[in-house]
Order: sequence, then structure tokens, then C-alpha cells
Amino acid sequence: MCDVPCYSDIATYLYGRDIYISDVVNSLQRYFEQLRLDFPIFSDVEGGRLIYLDSAATSQKPRQVLEAVNSFYRRYNANVHRGVYGISVKATEEYENARKRVASFINARPDEIVFVRGATEGLNLIAYSWALRNISADEEVLLTEMEHHSNIVPWQLVARLAGFKISYIPFTSEGYLDMAELDRFRGRPIKLLSFTYASNVLGTINDVKALTRFAHEIGALAVVDAAQAAPHMRIDVKELDCDFLVFSGHKMLGPTGIGVLYGRRSLLEAMEPFMGGGEMIKEVRLEAAEWNDVPWKFEAGTPNIAGSIGLAAAVDYLEKVGMDNVRRHEEELTKLAIELLSEIPFLTIYGPRDYRDRCGLVSFYLADIHPHDLASFLDRDGICVRAGHHCAMPIHTRLGIPASTRASFYLYNTPSEIEVLAASLRRALKTFKVIP
Ligand SMILES: Cc1ncc(COP(=O)(O)O)c(C=O)c1O
Repeated sequence: MCDVPCYSDIATYLYGRDIYISDVVNSLQRYFEQLRLDFPIFSDVEGGRLIYLDSAATSQKPRQVLEAVNSFYRRYNANVHRGVYGISVKATEEYENARKRVASFINARPDEIVFVRGATEGLNLIAYSWALRNISADEEVLLTEMEHHSNIVPWQLVARLAGFKISYIPFTSEGYLDMAELDRFRGRPIKLLSFTYASNVLGTINDVKALTRFAHEIGALAVVDAAQAAPHMRIDVKELDCDFLVFSGHKMLGPTGIGVLYGRRSLLEAMEPFMGGGEMIKEVRLEAAEWNDVPWKFEAGTPNIAGSIGLAAAVDYLEKVGMDNVRRHEEELTKLAIELLSEIPFLTIYGPRDYRDRCGLVSFYLADIHPHDLASFLDRDGICVRAGHHCAMPIHTRLGIPASTRASFYLYNTPSEIEVLAASLRRALKTFKVIP
């Protein structure tokens, strides 16, 4: 991997002041084009061209991550925390080292990091281990109308058991969370506010600090779904002052099946385990058991050792590039995508118009072409986009459409790929006979 250019500091300064210095921008662009070489899929893919615009679903993996996973299986594959022999000790060290690297990535303590399968499992853990035991039938959970199903359904499941009510903060027609509505929820028995950091459909980046402050003012816990944020921007849980935060490794260059739940230590300590089994106990008798310390209390059974090691390599990779550089690169791509797609007739873009308020994705609807047909058409040009409801049916219901097409970007995407997307979309208008 090439070194981050010293341009990055200059660029931070210049971008912050909206000064366009083409040399700096071009150098950064060249730097990101170089990074692409770290991703074998772009050269090894069958059929030649791969324009991968579906990183919001899952990201591609650099060779550094593939090698870390491979090295574990080839050189020190053994179970963790149990063996006293060399390779088991090494596997344990690497597993716990991964926890430390993830903790420092979001400015948490290692014992506040629980390895889970992904954001979904993290949210379920909070719902079952905290909400089920701490929220009663006359109390409420507050969500937003722009949540992924994984931040709606776990609360619905637990609400059926505990009897609590679920309310939603609406979003405006411009795709922003309606912060003016917050006052309506004051004075109500809300025990927990769970919200997405960035919407996987609208792209909106929410004001996490304001929402967290609001939650605490009304005596609720603040849970942040950072599935679409942690891969793309710097996160500091202490600065955000959230109580829980979750994200998935596979969306941030890491392997599938590994994710992170951050929880304030005092909360994790007071909570009951989510699952029972080996690893999560100190002592088991036939009548009862005593739980292990945090975070192991929440990691029943053999964990995803290779996944955590791969995730740590992904974190190293992202930190070397610099999260502020990742964010800036994606801002440029999003800005270009909004510009080019806005010029296409019969195309509606959803979410905020200002690219600075968005993460690196753009969802849209083109004429009356069904998103699945459109995605298949783009696939013939080697362009991978997602079509459907993106696990966010309530957002689509609110937008009045059954589905949308979504292009999402990451550090390996280039401006020319966005140009190819725009050109293909224009061609689709003719192929589907929207225009002659
Ligand atoms: C905003 C958001 N939250 C949660 C998830 C769930 O992530 P996972 O399926 O990795 O658990 C996703 C996945 O797309 C997402 O976009």
C-alpha cells in the first residue's frame, strides 16, 4: 500500500475552506486510484470490468485483510482462551489484540468492545439483554422512520415480550430527521432512543451528538447504529457520548460474520448475557452459573477468530489511509454523482441535496423502470448496484415507491466510474423506450 501523501493535511485545510486547488485534489485522486491495486477482485474478476457500486451492502477486501485471515488459518489456527500450547496462545493474543485495535479505532476501552456477528446481532443483544429487562409495559422505545430493519424488528420482537410501546421520529421531505419534532417526545416515559448514524437509503448523516444529548435529557439511553458510518468516517464514542454503538466488519473491508458492539462499561457490567455457553462463564454448577467478566460474558461459544483478525487488519488499513481522507474522497464522489444524476431526465434522487450532509450513497428512481430491471441492465455494463427496498421498507413506503436503485461508494471507487454509471443510465432511458 502506498503511503498517505502529505497532501492530506493541506487538503483538510483547503477543503475546509472550500478552496479548490486542482493539484491537491488530483494528487488525492491518484492516491485513491493506487489504493485500488490493493483489491484483488478488481483484477481477478471474471468477465473483465467490475464497477462495484454496492459497498453499502458489503465492501470489497484488500489483500492485507485476505492475508491476515489466510495467515491465521495457515500458521496458528487454534481455539482461543483455552490452550496453553504455542499456537493457541498466539491465536488468543491476536484475538484480544484485534479487540484493542477496534477499541482504539472508535476511542473506546477494549473491555467495552464485544465481538458479535454484525450490527444486527449487536442490536438484538441490546434489545434482549438490556431493553427486555429494563423497559416495562408503560414505557417506550423511540426510533426514527429512517431505520434499517435491523434497528426496527429486534425492538418489535422484544416489545411483544415486554409490552412497551415503540414511537418514531419522522423525517422531512428533504430527507433530514425532523429535529423540530423532538420536543413532542419530551415528558414521555422513553427509556431508549435508537437511531442510525447514516441512512442506508437516504444517505442522510444524522446529528448524533444532538440526538444523544436529547436522549440523555429525557432520561433515555442512546443507541447508535453505525453500520453505514464506521466504514466511512471517524468515530469517537466518547465524543458522541452514546451508550451503545454497533457496526459490521464486512462493510468496512473486513470479513463477513464479525461485527462490533460498543457499550459503556457500567451498562455492560449490569447486563445479563445474551447467550449462554462456553467462554462466557467463570463457574458452572448444576444449579447455577457465574458469568465471566465483560466483554467475554457476551461472547458465548467459539468466537469468529479469523473474522476478528481480518477486521483488525481492515482497521489498520483504514487508519493508514486516514478516515478523514476516506470521508473526503467519498464526499467528492457523492458530489459528482448528485451532479451527474441530477442532469438525467426522469431521474429522482432521494435524500438531502447537499452532499456534505450525506454518506457515500445515492438512491434513485428512473422513470417507471423497475429498479430490478435497471440493475440488470447496468450489470451488463459491469456496474454493480443494489435494487430493492434495501431492508428499509418503511422508508420506501414513506417515499411512495416499492423499491429504489442505490449506488454506493467506497475508497476504491473513482470519478470515472460515476461517469460510466451516468452514461449507462442515460442509455437505459432509450433501451426501456422512455425516450426515443
Ligand atoms: C443502517 C444499517 N444498519 C444495520 C445494517 C445491518 O448490518 P448487518 O446485516 O451487517 O448486520 C445495515 C446493513 O445494510 C445497515 O445499512
